[in-house]
Amino acid sequence: MKRVGVLISGRGRNLGALISAQVDAPYRIGLVISNIEGVDGLTRAADAGIPSLVIPHKDKTREAFDAELDAALRAAKIDIVCLAGFMRILSDGFARAWEGRLINIHPSLLPAYKGVKVHERVIAAGEAQSGASVHFVVPELDAGPVIAQASVPVHPNDTTETLAARVLDVELKLYPAALRLLAEDGVKLQKGLAVFD
Ligand code: GRF
Repeated sequence: MKRVGVLISGRGRNLGALISAQVDAPYRIGLVISNIEGVDGLTRAADAGIPSLVIPHKDKTREAFDAELDAALRAAKIDIVCLAGFMRILSDGFARAWEGRLINIHPSLLPAYKGVKVHERVIAAGEAQSGASVHFVVPELDAGPVIAQASVPVHPNDTTETLAARVLDVELKLYPAALRLLAEDGVKLQKGLAVFD
């Protein structure tokens, strides 16, 4: 049974999906950390009886903030770290220290549309398809090998909100499935590739 730490910054809908899916999965969420006080995701953790911490990032260097994250995760004996709507870029040192057991969900079909304002850019480009990706985190932002992806159609009359909602629907199924695969050692990060067993 793998112990999972989830890093959040906001509503925690992906966290909620990971919590719901753990009942019959080879992982248990042992800690939730938010860099923002009072967010909905912390309430989801409390409602599920999962310990949580707030580690503010303000007035700290990236390295100092990441060192606090690292210490809290190690103290909680965490095996796998999931970024779920965590809106901080992690330092190279942190990404390397947790490489192969640090994953993120991104609301696009990576490697396309890395970064922010994804749905606006997809609509502006007239894309017919979009989607979500769960990937290993490496020092380069949104560049780690993809573990799983799911695509959705982009409708001509889509707004950022309607597309984001459609992508989120698949995120909430995709992330638990990808975490289960990693927790049961069904996928590994080897030489910069996601290798499936
Ligand atoms: C999700 O769409 C995720 O892909 C993106 O940020 C959003 C977070 O939503 N990185 P939530 O915090 O899980 O509700």
